[in-house]
Amino acid sequence: MNTIGSFDEYNKVYSESVSNPEKFWADEAEQFYWRKKWDKVLEWDFSKPEIKWFINGKLNITENCIDRHLEKRANENAIIWESNDVNEPNQFITYQELHDRVSRFANVLKSKGIKKGDRVCVYMPMVPELAICILACARVGAVHSVVFAGFSSTSLSDRINDSECKLVVTSDGAFRGAKSIDLKAIVDEGLKSCHSVESVIVLKRTGSEIEMVPGRDIWWDEAEMGMSNVCPAEEMDAEDPLFILYTSGSTGKPKGMVHTCGGYMVYANYTFRTAFNYKEGQIYWCTADIGWITGHSYIVYGPLSAGATSVMFEGVPSYPDMGRFWQVVEKLKVDIFYTAPTAIRALQKADISFVDKYDLSSLKVLGSVGEPINEEAWHWYDEHIGKGKCPIVDTWWQTETGGFMISPIAHVTKLKPAHASFPMPGVQPVLMNSEGNEIEGNDVEGILTIKYPWPGMARTIWGDHQRFKDTYFSAFKGKYFTGDGARRDEDGYYRITGRVDDVIIVSGHNMGTAEIESAITEHENVCEVAVVGYPHDIKGNAIYAYVISYHKPENEDKERKEIYDIISSTLGPIAKPDKIQFVSGLPKTRSGKIMRRILRKVASGELENLGDTSTLLDPNVVTEIIDGKV
Ligand code: WTA
Repeated sequence: MNTIGSFDEYNKVYSESVSNPEKFWADEAEQFYWRKKWDKVLEWDFSKPEIKWFINGKLNITENCIDRHLEKRANENAIIWESNDVNEPNQFITYQELHDRVSRFANVLKSKGIKKGDRVCVYMPMVPELAICILACARVGAVHSVVFAGFSSTSLSDRINDSECKLVVTSDGAFRGAKSIDLKAIVDEGLKSCHSVESVIVLKRTGSEIEMVPGRDIWWDEAEMGMSNVCPAEEMDAEDPLFILYTSGSTGKPKGMVHTCGGYMVYANYTFRTAFNYKEGQIYWCTADIGWITGHSYIVYGPLSAGATSVMFEGVPSYPDMGRFWQVVEKLKVDIFYTAPTAIRALQKADISFVDKYDLSSLKVLGSVGEPINEEAWHWYDEHIGKGKCPIVDTWWQTETGGFMISPIAHVTKLKPAHASFPMPGVQPVLMNSEGNEIEGNDVEGILTIKYPWPGMARTIWGDHQRFKDTYFSAFKGKYFTGDGARRDEDGYYRITGRVDDVIIVSGHNMGTAEIESAITEHENVCEVAVVGYPHDIKGNAIYAYVISYHKPENEDKERKEIYDIISSTLGPIAKPDKIQFVSGLPKTRSGKIMRRILRKVASGELENLGDTSTLLDPNVVTEIIDGKV
């Protein structure tokens, strides 16, 4: 097991990991419990693409996340659960209890006829049973497909049908802030168009009234009755699928990214321990939902495989008030705190007394994920939450990569605000220009690709290997295409600039929305901005900017003029937005992605049929944006 204690050591480990990746990853994989060791570390060919790690290795990931810790930490907490309701007591789930509960539910799955390779759809709130359920799937060798419990019934049924799930696990309802959502009703609606599903297991959470379909539906508690706490783990091949997780593509159809048992485990574990500089006994909290890759890798598999204590939060940062995160940090004495820029910006706008009334002195490391973090937010996070003493690891990665790719290493990497900084050991990034040539040296900008496999990478898109090839391995021969742009500065630090596919063509000029957005945020009152194109008779496309201000502009026209001046002097008049609308929020998914599709439609005046808005963090912003359209 490699540990990195200084930047010199990082350089040394990095260069070893690149000159001999197979040795590097074999050393990492050694610490795990394998039923049978691998014959060969890696086979790969990006032209097919085919990627295999730890060939013929046999294991079960739950023996590595649970059983192997029992000797030393049976009574230590694996999961600490924090309810949506500030008055509901925490649940402290020890590794022993996790073992028993996972095994019990694994036996339930078996009793429902679930076998190795079957797909199980999980559509649940952030309660401990969600983690237990996915681990139980892994224990019996079933492939879990977690669908974030904010998706609509159509999104749910599309995903269930795509991977032909046999079983759905859900709950009667979900609490989210002051609201309660009837999940089971959404499942019932979705299942009208799903023919593969044989049974539905329903956890009682909200107590709301629901319908149970006889012969198909069963309550979780009832199903568990009489089940044993022992369930031998199924032996899996390193390359067997562990889970499918859907991520949105540029076309409407979501892509079911497939992750494996062996490589994914080694990678989630290594990146968790390394980037956060995790020390035994620390309390770690990632605020993401398990419905996203961040929750899979950094609430469940990374921390549990490392024997850590992982906090799981059911609620939202603004309930009962904007101090909730900080209240929980104080109460649970959280050491490592990992969240998204979108949450930071929302909390930054609230009164600072929501932060200052809590004792945050337990914090040692902070993290950020999901989108580029702007400098304002970075500094606020550093100053008010980290009190200037906690490194911020700005982790760049994707659903497809399984784990961190470019990230500072806490207490090792000298930080630059808003820079993801350096590649993790084993990761070989390359910047490309649009002609397909590699851009070498520093102080350059290009399209971010990766030229060598890493164990955590997705192996395919469920049922559509051709699409996997077309999307990720065709833009640049022999390289994994990330879809993101990046700058490598004079010191070799990487800064992610945003998606390269967000390009507007105005009067025949290619303009990256990220570039225009970054120019607009130079205005001192601009907190955040999203730029989209809309059809224009003369220019082909025109630019529409949605701007969130720190303080409501006293004179909107004056502020528009100031923004125009900044753009003219930085990018040139061609990049000047035709319209600027001041808004209080942007339509974002819960993982912080701006839904540009909606902004584009509003900008082009297509106000009806905005498509599925069920995954939005706050659907009300859409109404505000429509009402204030300029
Ligand atoms: C963006 C989330 C800048 C990026 C783990 C990427 C980031 C996409 C960062 C993947 C970061 C994620 N800095 N941009 N630290 N982290 N992104 O699949 O555009 O939900 O391609 O995975 O989010 O989003 P996904």
